[in-house]
Amino acid sequence: MYLLSLLAFVAVSSASSLTTRHVLHRVPSGWTSVAPAPSDHLIDMRIGLKQGRMDELLATLVQVSNPGHERYGMYLSKSQVEALVAPRQDTIEFVEGWLKAHGVNITRRSSAGDWIHALVPVKRAEKMLNTRYNIYRHTSGEHVVRAESYALPRSLDDHVDVIEPTTFFGTRKDKPSRAIEKRESPIAGIIQKIADMSNCSATTTPKCLKSLYKTSGYTPSGIGRSMLGIVGYLEQYASHIDYQVFNTLFHLPALLSGFAVELVNEGKNNELLPGDEGNLDTQYGGAMTYPMRNIYYSVGGRPSEFTADAYTPANRNEPYVEWLNYMLAKSDSQLPLTITTSYGDNEQTVPFDYAQRVCNDFAQLGARGVSLLFSSGDNGVGPGNCTTNTTPEKKQFVPIFPASCPWVTAVGATTGMSPERAAVFSQGGFSNYFAQPDYQAGSVNAYLTGLGNTYDGLYNKSGRGFPDVSAQGQNYLVIQNAILLSINGTSASSPTFAGVIALVNDYRMSNGKRPLGFLNPWLYSNSAMLNDITIGNNPGCETDGFSAAVGWDPVTGLGTPDFEQMKGIL
Ligand SMILES: *[C@@H]1O[C@H](CO)[C@@H](O)[C@H](O)[C@H]1NC(C)=O
Ligand SMILES: *[C@@H]1O[C@H](CO)[C@@H](O)[C@H](O)[C@H]1NC(C)=O
Ligand SMILES: *[C@@H]1O[C@H](CO)[C@@H](O)[C@H](O)[C@H]1NC(C)=O
Ligand SMILES: *[C@@H]1O[C@H](CO)[C@@H](O)[C@H](O)[C@H]1NC(C)=O
Ligand SMILES: *[C@@H]1O[C@H](CO)[C@@H](O)[C@H](O)[C@H]1NC(C)=O
Repeated sequence: MYLLSLLAFVAVSSASSLTTRHVLHRVPSGWTSVAPAPSDHLIDMRIGLKQGRMDELLATLVQVSNPGHERYGMYLSKSQVEALVAPRQDTIEFVEGWLKAHGVNITRRSSAGDWIHALVPVKRAEKMLNTRYNIYRHTSGEHVVRAESYALPRSLDDHVDVIEPTTFFGTRKDKPSRAIEKRESPIAGIIQKIADMSNCSATTTPKCLKSLYKTSGYTPSGIGRSMLGIVGYLEQYASHIDYQVFNTLFHLPALLSGFAVELVNEGKNNELLPGDEGNLDTQYGGAMTYPMRNIYYSVGGRPSEFTADAYTPANRNEPYVEWLNYMLAKSDSQLPLTITTSYGDNEQTVPFDYAQRVCNDFAQLGARGVSLLFSSGDNGVGPGNCTTNTTPEKKQFVPIFPASCPWVTAVGATTGMSPERAAVFSQGGFSNYFAQPDYQAGSVNAYLTGLGNTYDGLYNKSGRGFPDVSAQGQNYLVIQNAILLSINGTSASSPTFAGVIALVNDYRMSNGKRPLGFLNPWLYSNSAMLNDITIGNNPGCETDGFSAAVGWDPVTGLGTPDFEQMKGIL
């Protein structure tokens, strides 16, 4: 059997029987090809094998997350998920046969066996994938080795979802815009802000958020998996010292060991060089959920200075897959129930095959009862003039991935306390990759009906609408290098909304109920528990953007949290 598939590969390796998987029409903006990749440079290749029963996993996810279904709350165990996603035996034989035919050794496999890793020199990878690898430089000075297309033997069509690194250039952070006020001295900055600190219309503080979202009276028990996970990429380190200063300033009873750190994919956490994103996420995650256990996952894999050293494998791939495989390998008791991630890319810069696969891998965490929240992006309906990377070019609103994945909860931004309204930067719209999921059809179609033909051609009416929900995203006070900063962005909204969800999960667990798991079916079928935001719009792409409206809208989703209401919903 094995030998047969091996021979089949030798037979089909002529260029005429290849299937092209993905072609970039244009490398993402900011990147330029500077040189061919050296032929002996080692690529840390990851092969996403077709998962045996993914349709069944997605069907199960929809049932166990739907409050109206008899299987609601009956999440799958690690081994049950792995049984569904494990590749079929013929898939394993075909892919291993192909690797063997090219003299490639497997270095690692994911827990379910659905991802294979191999170290492959550029010259061999180019032959396997019928492509050319180049070194690309970003305007920031970062370098990556990537290809502009790749192709596989047709006989692998049914067995391989995606191969990386190829055409995905990597995650750009949703940079929170920030203003460093009164830099002369931290004390002056703090004193200056103290006057405003009690004015929730001028600054956003833990106290403002807890009062607005009605969590002030609840102290979590931290029972079982009642933990908040916070994911950091791109060397956004989180500082325990800044965390302490923050907690002292806001009179929060945090301990010195206020959050745990787990390093993923050779990630680091150099606390002497904290990032504003890492600090924002840990400070507000902790403030919303203390004394619940918080875990900061610092994931390595940033594009960096290219060194043409054949013996140093380039571990510079985009990191969602690394993080997912790290989490999916955890035992059921080690998985936090709630996880927030404040990162995203313009959807069109993420190859379709890669986005589909990563989205399905997020679904596996949902099936295991994890609530995953992502910020929706900070560019309204899109940055600049929103010209697509297709030929011919056209103008189109810009969705954000992973927020556009239907198996995660996307969080937009609001501002103001009474009334609470949309923040102008809150990104939202419709995916071009993922179809509208059933759970949001009623809410989203009602908005589309109201919209009529406005913006026809600029967005995809049949796509998954995002964000799902929203939370405050402006004027957050954060401690960074012991200095008080003010930060705006959906980067702030996601940890805040996730903090409330973590409390709801804690409340449910403490009362013998199942955790919420994948949130969206619960959110869309109980939208009255949220504060509907109906004022504001999200300009971008040289337009006024969408307008907030009664019910769901592509600016603030269904609205902002109300803990008292949410914990009352079974
Ligand atoms: C693959 O493994 C075999 C056996 O361990 C070894 O002899 C060979 O050199 C390896 N090939 C590569 C390309 O690393
Ligand atoms: C946040 O947004 C508000 C309103 O647009 C603005 O006044 C403030 O300067 C912004 N803060 C930062 C840090 O950019
Ligand atoms: C609170 O801040 C808002 C916005 O800066 C300002 O308009 C208002 O006057 C302030 N209220 C008080 C009581 O200082
Ligand atoms: C859109 O903006 C880009 C970058 O600023 C520019 O190169 C391009 O010509 C613009 N396209 C249109 C149609 O205005
Ligand atoms: C619109 O979304 C649908 C559903 O995901 C997709 O099949 C289609 O290709 C999208 N259209 C465009 C123009 O991107």
